[in-house]
Amino acid sequence: MKADEVLIAHHDVLRGLLRDLVETTEAQADRREELRDRFLREIEIHAQIEDELFYPAVPDVSPLLALAHAEHRQIDDQVATVMRMDVTDPEFRTEVRMLEQTVRHHTMEEEQRMFPQSHALGEERLDELGEQLRARQRELTASGGMRLMIRLKRATLRLTKA
Ligand SMILES: [Fe+2]
Ligand SMILES: [Fe+2]
Repeated sequence: MKADEVLIAHHDVLRGLLRDLVETTEAQADRREELRDRFLREIEIHAQIEDELFYPAVPDVSPLLALAHAEHRQIDDQVATVMRMDVTDPEFRTEVRMLEQTVRHHTMEEEQRMFPQSHALGEERLDELGEQLRARQRELTASGGMRLMIRLKRATLRLTKA
């Protein structure tokens, strides 16, 4: 798979998790918790593989980079808000919807503006980069360090409830 295809497939996972989360009700607390935790894990992994491997490889990426990083930070803030909330909070769905909009906007922007720029790398390099992204994604998914980091982050966000 080419680098942009790997990332688009992961965008689909992220958007799918948020869509499923929006569709849950207050009565499905366990499902909400599960989807929210899965989303946190996937978005952390996604931002990390983009920052480490993809963004640095894209030619002429610098004009788009500041925006991409600002959007990652905005997503981080909104994720923090959603993580701090009780899943039975009546405002939960509204917050998830706002997060979904930001994620949709950011991923579409990447797909429409940044990913086409990566095509200048040529087929071979895109395939190679795609393999690197997939390998790192698998590694982070399996990694005890990543799991620990996410557990800590989740615990910290819940302790610092406003
Ligand atoms: Fe991104
Ligand atoms: Fe992305």
